[in-house]
Amino acid sequence: MGTATNERKLAVVFLWSISVLSGTCNAEFTPADNYLINCGSTVDASVGRRVFEADNSKSTILTSHQSVAANTFLDSVPASDYAVLYQTARIFGVPSSYSFKMKSRGRHFVRLHFFSFKYQSYDLAVAKFKVSTQDAVLLDNFTPPSNSSPVVREYSLNITRGMLILTFVPLGNSTSFINAIEVISVPDDLILDLGQSVNPIRQYAGLAAQPFQTFYRINVGGRKVTADNDTLWRSWDTDQSFFLNSTTTQTVTYEGKLNYQRGAATEEDAPDSVYNTARRLVAQNNTASASNMTWQFNVDRRASYLIRFHLCDIVSKAMAALYFDVYVDRWSAAEDLDLSEKGFGTLAVPYYTDVILESSDPSGKLSVSIGPSSLNNVAQDGILNGLEIMKMNISTGTVEIVQPPPSQKRELPIILGSILAVCAATAVAILCFVLRRKKNKKPQTASTSRTSSAWTPLTLNGISFLSTGTRTTSRTTLTSGTNGDATYQIPFVVLQEATNHFDEQMIIGVGGFGKVYKAVLQDGTKVAVKRGNHKSHQGIKEFRTEIELLSGLRHRHLVSLIGYCNEHNEMILVYEYMEKGTLKGHLYGSDIPALSWKKRVEICIGAARGLHYLHTGFAKSIIHRDVKSANILLDENLMAKVSDFGLSKTGPELDQTHVSTAVKGSFGYLDPEYYRRQKLTDKSDVYSFGVVLLEVICARPVIDPSLPREMINLAEWASKWQKRGELDQIVDQRIAGTIRPESLRKYGETVEKCLAEYGVDRPTMGDVLWNLEFVLQLQESGPDITNIDSMNQISELPSEARRVGSLEISTADESHTNINYSQMSTNDAFSQLMNTEGR
Ligand SMILES: *[C@@H]1O[C@H](CO)[C@@H](O)[C@H](O)[C@H]1NC(C)=O
Ligand SMILES: *[C@@H]1O[C@H](CO)[C@@H](O)[C@H](O)[C@H]1NC(C)=O
Ligand SMILES: *[C@@H]1O[C@H](CO)[C@@H](O)[C@H](O)[C@H]1NC(C)=O
Ligand SMILES: *[C@@H]1O[C@H](CO)[C@@H](O)[C@H](O)[C@H]1NC(C)=O
Ligand SMILES: *[C@@H]1O[C@H](CO)[C@@H](O)[C@H](O)[C@H]1NC(C)=O
Ligand SMILES: *[C@@H]1O[C@H](CO)[C@@H](O)[C@H](O)[C@H]1NC(C)=O
Ligand SMILES: *[C@@H]1O[C@H](CO)[C@@H](O)[C@H](O)[C@H]1NC(C)=O
Repeated sequence: MGTATNERKLAVVFLWSISVLSGTCNAEFTPADNYLINCGSTVDASVGRRVFEADNSKSTILTSHQSVAANTFLDSVPASDYAVLYQTARIFGVPSSYSFKMKSRGRHFVRLHFFSFKYQSYDLAVAKFKVSTQDAVLLDNFTPPSNSSPVVREYSLNITRGMLILTFVPLGNSTSFINAIEVISVPDDLILDLGQSVNPIRQYAGLAAQPFQTFYRINVGGRKVTADNDTLWRSWDTDQSFFLNSTTTQTVTYEGKLNYQRGAATEEDAPDSVYNTARRLVAQNNTASASNMTWQFNVDRRASYLIRFHLCDIVSKAMAALYFDVYVDRWSAAEDLDLSEKGFGTLAVPYYTDVILESSDPSGKLSVSIGPSSLNNVAQDGILNGLEIMKMNISTGTVEIVQPPPSQKRELPIILGSILAVCAATAVAILCFVLRRKKNKKPQTASTSRTSSAWTPLTLNGISFLSTGTRTTSRTTLTSGTNGDATYQIPFVVLQEATNHFDEQMIIGVGGFGKVYKAVLQDGTKVAVKRGNHKSHQGIKEFRTEIELLSGLRHRHLVSLIGYCNEHNEMILVYEYMEKGTLKGHLYGSDIPALSWKKRVEICIGAARGLHYLHTGFAKSIIHRDVKSANILLDENLMAKVSDFGLSKTGPELDQTHVSTAVKGSFGYLDPEYYRRQKLTDKSDVYSFGVVLLEVICARPVIDPSLPREMINLAEWASKWQKRGELDQIVDQRIAGTIRPESLRKYGETVEKCLAEYGVDRPTMGDVLWNLEFVLQLQESGPDITNIDSMNQISELPSEARRVGSLEISTADESHTNINYSQMSTNDAFSQLMNTEGR
């Protein structure tokens, strides 16, 4: 029957090539690469039959120096299959990337899901950014639509490398974000190399290498098809909103079985539900009245499009009964098309063909029409089952790449071994010294002397990030257990360059661990580089602790660890740079203008939030152990972040109430219960934080040996004033008049509770946080007396602190402060020793 049609001399098939397809109708397609990422989430999410992994999983590498995991309430997300994905997003403040290791080369779908919502100070609806791969710009100047509905952008990319890096670049002051990502292999023959161009008429070669962006995918005359019902997780819209209702049509549905044929379309090209529904021209008795059925789409002007027509003759009762014309814009793409002529010898054969159009309509419209054939003696008929419109040449502009950390071989165990030997020897020396001074004690200096002799694998929340065993074990991806930001190994040369060869001019701080340099990475990111001093007693253990802890912690009020370097015996930690330095620096000993009371309380609230997160954010609480004003850093907006986790310890197991450990910490801030009984609980941090609160209100050092004896220790001295209800007498004179009495009273009570003799009597960090918020509220609910500038003019009287000369005290790290031991008790000296030696 098929050959019979050949005898018909009428058919002038013009520009209609029979694509030779290697169709198979075998088992369901299984993609080699199938990455489904639920960004900004800590949990996997099921969407239909698929599971989207949290982006802290091991399967992808997230490289970001500044990212926030954001979430919103499910009921603020429009109901859809994907709603659960749109509940969370990852927000980036700097260029950042996701890297996917590709198992297969060739065509892949890359789908990016965006849903904008408000999170804290971020309004995602105003985000403006660029997304690129190593080879193509996928989105430029992109701002999600403001109608608060999700958008999915789909790309079809021929991936020729072993790694796909998707880079998100915020533009201007803006941020970038992403809710979910899909990267899925598709059959190689989904897009073939050749197509027919209609304007001008020519054969177009080179489709195979091109990237495409899907603009429209329509199940003509049928229902919406969701990802779960599609063979390649595509979604197909109905044609309702595109069909120009200018002529009489009917929708048809085929109940029979489709006849997939080798050489025609496959089940992967479009699902059955596309081929077994169609829109059909209703035959007119009067030839003159026949007209085209037309669909119209908005597209970008002056771009090229690959238009794929999905066709399947599900209406004819016999072969060679259906003839029609196909148009794209006003160009003819096929004349007198006869589907049965394709030689398959049967009806209901799924078939597609590609047409390429260089769009020229200045209004940015693209239309597709099916019209009746002008042949005599044939019915006025026509059919269309499905349509895909894919933009070509999507890549304009330059791509940006944030490379993932290179994987490197490590020879760590040996290097660390030697460092550890030094540490152990020093530890023994300290131990002897301590034992001599404190005979009645059996200090558990285990934490310094029990240095493990090998670099054992570290596991944080189930993700091991440093591996060993053999010298050549390559580094596994270092990802966090909470919000999934990668912390990675940074080559020494990079840091050398960034710090101008560790230029002394770049030093922003010195601590027991070593020097801290300001550095600028090649991409302009400012970072703080903390370079371990090899002789330091804050040795390998603290180095490890800090990497281990910080890389797992991502919180708005905790300083993020960006990377580390352990090449050439180095112990270097790289942190986000905190523009405004330490809280301490803003309180006393510098020319920095005094912070207002409101600002001070806000900073304390921020720090309290960070500590509260440490204490409660994990199954095992994390005790900071060195809370002090020098460890509370301020970013450019004076937002507080807690830093320096070198001494951190995870809290007690459930069946214990405290961690026994050698006393460490900073003198003046130490919980008396802790150094008396070596009993470490999260309440030790609460005590130290109480001392910080005093520093904040009195603006003087916690230990000031130049003062009269009873005034040396801030905690002791100020507590006496507070107990007498006279805290107002010792408030920083620069702000004293601006504090509302109720606010001050509440603050004083909070401090007093924090400094309670026994841990059990102290509030939790959560209570402290709540109380500070109340302090702020009490301050703000009254008349505005926070204008510090005017207050500064009034209070020219020298403050008590000034009279006693505390401003002359150096603000160097405590370990460098010259302290007069003769004025101290044995306990004090012990803690001081631990402070200078331990840090
Ligand atoms: C960045 O933000 C500041 C203040 O919000 C504004 O003045 C400036 O114009 C912004 N710059 C850009 C490039 O958007
Ligand atoms: C991808 O592009 C390369 C050329 O860059 C080509 O050789 C290969 O066939 C393409 N693969 C597919 C699946 O189109
Ligand atoms: C999609 O699949 C579901 C069940 O898997 C079915 O109930 C539904 O009718 C399908 N929709 C289409 C358009 O095929
Ligand atoms: C086309 O128009 C007719 C009559 O105005 C209406 O009944 C029909 O629903 C329309 N069809 C579409 C697809 O809009
Ligand atoms: C077309 O003509 C046939 C008979 O010639 C008639 O039965 C039919 O109703 C007509 N159809 C329309 C749509 O006018
Ligand atoms: C269908 O559209 C094409 C292109 O716009 C036009 O040339 C043709 O005359 C139309 N056919 C009918 C029957 O209106
Ligand atoms: C699209 O890109 C191809 C090569 O990738 C190029 O030959 C062609 O001219 C481009 N077309 C347009 C309209 O830019």
